[in-house]
Order: sequence, then structure tokens, then C-alpha cells
Amino acid sequence: MQELKMLWYLSFLFSLISSTSTSLDNITSIRSLRDGETLISHGGIFELGFFSPGNSKNRYVGIWYHNMSPLTVVWVANREKALNDTSGVLKLTDQGLVLLVNGTSNSTVWSSTMSGKAENPVAQLLASGNLVVKDGHNGEHFLWQSFDFLGDTLLPGTKIGWDPVTGLERTMTSWKSADDPGRGDFMFRIDPGGYPQAVLTNGTVIMVRVGPWNGQMFSGATIYLRYSKLLPSDYDFIDKELICKLQPLQRYSVIRSVVTPWGGVQLLHWSRQTSSWEILLSLPEGECDKYSHCGANSVCRVTPAPICTCLEGFAPKYPRKWKDLYWSDGCVRITPLSCSKDGFKKHSGLVLPDTSTSWHNKTMNLQECEDLCRKNCSCTAYSNLDVRAGGSGCLLWFHDLIDMRQGGQDLYIRLPMSEPDDESNKKKLVGMIIGSILFFMSMMFGLVLCLWRKKLEEPEIFWWKQWAHKREKDDMDLPMFDLSTIVYATNYFSSDNKLGEGGFGSVYKGALENGTEIAVKRLSIDSEQGLDEFKNEVQLIAKLQHRNLVKLLGCCIQQKEKLLIYELMPNRSLDTFIFGS
Ligand SMILES: *[C@@H]1O[C@H](CO)[C@@H](O)[C@H](O)[C@H]1NC(C)=O
Ligand SMILES: *[C@@H]1O[C@H](CO)[C@@H](O)[C@H](O)[C@H]1NC(C)=O
Ligand SMILES: *[C@@H]1O[C@H](CO)[C@@H](O)[C@H](O)[C@H]1NC(C)=O
Ligand SMILES: *[C@@H]1O[C@H](CO)[C@@H](O)[C@H](O)[C@H]1NC(C)=O
Ligand SMILES: *[C@@H]1O[C@H](CO)[C@@H](O)[C@H](O)[C@H]1NC(C)=O
Ligand SMILES: *[C@@H]1O[C@H](CO)[C@@H](O)[C@H](O)[C@H]1NC(C)=O
Ligand SMILES: *[C@@H]1O[C@H](CO)[C@@H](O)[C@H](O)[C@H]1NC(C)=O
Repeated sequence: MQELKMLWYLSFLFSLISSTSTSLDNITSIRSLRDGETLISHGGIFELGFFSPGNSKNRYVGIWYHNMSPLTVVWVANREKALNDTSGVLKLTDQGLVLLVNGTSNSTVWSSTMSGKAENPVAQLLASGNLVVKDGHNGEHFLWQSFDFLGDTLLPGTKIGWDPVTGLERTMTSWKSADDPGRGDFMFRIDPGGYPQAVLTNGTVIMVRVGPWNGQMFSGATIYLRYSKLLPSDYDFIDKELICKLQPLQRYSVIRSVVTPWGGVQLLHWSRQTSSWEILLSLPEGECDKYSHCGANSVCRVTPAPICTCLEGFAPKYPRKWKDLYWSDGCVRITPLSCSKDGFKKHSGLVLPDTSTSWHNKTMNLQECEDLCRKNCSCTAYSNLDVRAGGSGCLLWFHDLIDMRQGGQDLYIRLPMSEPDDESNKKKLVGMIIGSILFFMSMMFGLVLCLWRKKLEEPEIFWWKQWAHKREKDDMDLPMFDLSTIVYATNYFSSDNKLGEGGFGSVYKGALENGTEIAVKRLSIDSEQGLDEFKNEVQLIAKLQHRNLVKLLGCCIQQKEKLLIYELMPNRSLDTFIFGS
């Protein structure tokens, strides 16, 4: 018994001695690191040494969390070239750190590249997990640091993006697999074109765009929004350099972000209760996180279905594919821009579109931003750059708007004036339609039915609904056309298809998929005209209807479009149809 106690005491003493003897945190030119030896950072969180990942027998030099199981590696030196045995030695020379096989100087497996020579170099594993090489005489200046050469992990204090001074780009790249720390296909980086935005790529293809920086966070990271209360002042973003300030909270004192070998980005914290890593955030999270899932000029929403919807004033490029849920071709303008007469439509609650070709200015305000966008005919949208303090700065887009999702920001999108952003015009239009019903029940049937089927909520038309309900049984066969069908049939309301202009709208010729030739009356929402003109127009249509010149096939009320679709009578004078003369 006494011997057992003695043995225990001895082993305790031994463990004390060994733990103090291994808690070195530096390598010098006279003290190298061999396989089996480790450095432990001040504070005891990180450890540097030789390890074998997963089921592999290869040896690598890396940094991991000290006293943590399972082994969690945050940085690897020789990630591309493994050691096949335990003969490796990490040495410090006046050129920097070198990893040698068998300690022979002509078999370098890995080296830290330094710009200059060090007189009295020291390599130290800092408490933050940063392995630095410095000149012994100049303790604050690092000649080299592992934080500049990220692996797959971002630690509190690391930066990603472009160093404004050295031009060095710091990126996170995934491991090939859990057994192989070699560079995998997935990279998390700051895309430096246009206004900087964080992206997760697979090779050269963008998988997830975490949106542009808006002063507080990445605009695209709705997921970050959810956790913004948990994570205090996460990041700092200066020009193209992102400083990760994952200030650990008490609850989340050990925290890291990682690009996984299977193509995701995760933010994790170490739970002491469960002794395991818990995922705080994970990307991609859903369909809408997939880059450009809905194609151009279209917004991805998780609910309600359909996932993808065209922006107002836009229609699916290929309506048939769109109906079959192939979204990736996106949407195109229904009416071309006219440049000088264009307006802007405010869209709220968005993740800003891809900024890789955008232009920005940090000091302009929103009005200056609008003026600048208006002046340049190729400018398609604008927004504030920084959402803090009521908003500041200016971001301009010049092309299709790509990869928009539900989010928290406002975007002002250029539209032709004939699709104005004006609620009163909408109301006037409803008034016009009511007026026309009073005159011409037979024709307006269709519209009423359409409105009824669309179940519009406007209280003004409530009585229509009741009335329409009575008539519904008699006239259910008036079809409701889908806007995309008509857009497709009229070749996007192309000017070649335009037959002419009536008093309150333009008429376009077109052909349905089944070959039926149609004439589409596009009711103008430019309600400049007076009531008398309107009456004349409607009387005119009524006459045509009465004489059976044209047959109403159906209608379409979608977005801001109000369309009446007639059969085209090619033998009749088109003028008769349009102007009723
Ligand atoms: C290296 O570590 C040893 C042991 O902790 C310490 O005595 C020494 O001062 C350190 N050297 C430098 C340059 O930090
Ligand atoms: C380890 O073995 C592989 C294959 O046998 C070889 O390509 C590689 O160069 C070796 N690595 C070292 C450091 O010798
Ligand atoms: C290391 O040295 C030993 C003998 O000193 C030799 O057998 C072994 O092949 C060497 N390993 C490498 C990778 O050169
Ligand atoms: C390394 O150097 C030694 C002596 O300098 C030489 O004999 C050996 O062939 C060299 N090995 C390689 C792989 O160049
Ligand atoms: C990454 O790209 C490759 C090649 O294009 C593809 O086979 C693979 O499925 C992609 N991986 C993911 C997760 O998207
Ligand atoms: C940004 O806008 C301000 C005010 O209009 C102007 O003074 C400044 O030169 C602009 N900066 C850039 C980089 O265009
Ligand atoms: C509009 O902006 C684009 C992109 O910045 C630029 O290339 C073009 O010259 C501008 N056009 C005018 C008329 O300012």
C-alpha cells in the first residue's frame, strides 16, 4: 500500500516536471523541435508539434488546441508535403523556420518565407495561436507569422482579405479530407473586384456569396444577423481587409470558423459541458444560399413558394423553363429602359446583389447616389453602402442584378417611368377599371373574374367580388393568362410587335404557344389622361366588342401589368381594332 502511494506520488511529481519541461513556447537557432516534442502557448490554449490527421499515418507540423479531444488542428505548416516518418525536425535559421527530413539540410519539406534575415531569431507560439518569427532584439515586429498564411481555420484575431500594405491575400482553404490537410477545392475569401464581398468558392465557381460589407456585417449573412446578439462586434472591415474580431464571450470563450472539406463554412464554439464543438452558424443553409440560384433580376425567398420571383418590371427569360422550376436563366426587363425618363423603385428587405462589378463611394449620400445613377444610362440600381447612422455612402450597379435574397437592406432599382413607383397611380387605375365596368359589363366580365380569382384585397372592389361570384358559374371559361406567357408571346413587348397606341394603352401583336395569333392591349398606367378621353376609349372598345370584331380571349393582372388579350383578326384593318374608326 505504502509502495503504491509512493508510486502515485512519484508519478505525480514526474508529471509536474514533465509538464513544466514541455511548456516551452519558443524555438531558437540552438533549440529545434523534433517529432514528439511540442510547444505550448502562454495560457495553455494552443500546442504546436507533429501530428497525424484522422486515419492517416503521415506526419505534419501543426497547431492544435492543447488538452482537447478530439484533436482539433487549426493550422498546418507542410500541408502539401507530408512526412512519411517521425524523422522530421523543425529548425530555426536566420532565414526563418525550416522543416527538414532527418535533420539534413538538403531535404527541406517546408519553410517559412521571410523578406529579410534575422540576427537573433526566435520563433514563438503566441497565446492567440499565432506562430511568429521575430528578431530577438525587436520583439513587436514579426518577420513572419502563421496568421498571414491561413489554413482552413479563422481564429479570433486573424484577418482575411487583402493586406493594403503588402498586397498579400489571406484566404481560408479547406482540407482535401479529414485525413489530408492538403489544399481542397473550397475557399473562403474576400472577392476584391468592385465593392468587396465575402464568397465561398468551389474551384473558380462561386458557391455562396456572403454579400457585401454594410458597416455592421456582411449584408448577405442573414444567418449572422440571427447571431449578432450572441457575437459582439465580430468583424472590422477596412477597405479590402477583414479583421476577424471574434471577441469571445464568456459562453463562447473558445471559438473558430472553418471551411469544411465538403464545401461549407462553419462557426463553432467549444462547449465545456458536452466537451465537444457546437456549430453556431453553418453555410450554405438552404436553397437561397446557393449563388445566383434564381438567376438575374430575381429574388430568392425561402417562403412562400415559389422560391424565385422576378423583380417588378421583369419577367422570366424562358417562361416555360421557369414554370418547370428551372430558375437559373433568371428574368429580363419587360420594357426597355428609356434612360432620361427612368425612375427608381425601392425594394426593401433584400440582400444586396453581387457587387463584383459595382462602383462605390464612401462619402456620398443617398440623394447624390440617385443623381449619379440617373445620369449614367447603364446604371441599373443604387443603394447605401453603410447602414449605420441612417445610412451613408453609395453603391452603384451597372449590369443585371445577381443573387438577391431576403435580407435587411434597401435597393433602388431603375425602371421605366411607365412602371412608376406610385401608389396613387395604382388607385387611379383601379378607379379606371371600376369606371369601365359601369359602362361595359360584357367586356369587363373578364377583368372582374380575373380580379376575383386573384382575390385582390382592395376594399373598393369588394362588391365586385360578390357580383362576380354570381356570374362566375356562367363565365368561368374566360382564361387568366400568366404574365410570362404574354411576355413570351409578344417577344417581351418588343417594338416590332407593337401595332399601335390607343388612348389608354398600347396594342401588341403576338402568338401563343398553340399558334393562336393574339392582340394584347396593355392598359397604360400612365394616368395622365382625363376621364372623358378614358370614356371615349372604353366606348370604342365596347363598340368593337358589340360588333364582334374581336373576341376577348382572356386577361392578365400581374405585377403592375393589366392586360386584355384578344384574338387577332388578320383580315380586319388593324386600325379598326386599335382606333375603332
Ligand atoms: C523561450 O522560452 C523559454 C522557456 O519558457 C524562456 O525562458 C525564454 O525567455 C524564451 N525565449 C524568448 C526569446 O522568448
Ligand atoms: C513520402 O512518400 C511519398 C510517396 O512515397 C513521396 O512522394 C514523398 O516525397 C515522401 N515525403 C517525404 C518528405 O519524403
Ligand atoms: C533518415 O535517416 C535514416 C538513417 O539515418 C534512413 O534510414 C532513412 O531512410 C532516412 N529517411 C529519409 C526520409 O531520408
Ligand atoms: C544531401 O547532401 C548530402 C551531402 O551533402 C548528399 O550526400 C546527399 O546525396 C544529398 N541528398 C539529396 C537528396 O540531395
Ligand atoms: C465542386 O465542383 C466539382 C467540379 O465542378 C463538382 O463535381 C462538385 O460537386 C462541387 N462540389 C460542391 C459541394 O458543390
Ligand atoms: C466621393 O464623393 C465625394 C462627394 O461627391 C467626392 O468628393 C469624392 O471625390 C468621391 N470619391 C471618389 C473616390 O470618387
Ligand atoms: C457609366 O458607368 C460606367 C461604369 O462605371 C462607365 O464605364 C461609363 O463610362 C459611365 N457612362 C457615363 C456616361 O458616365
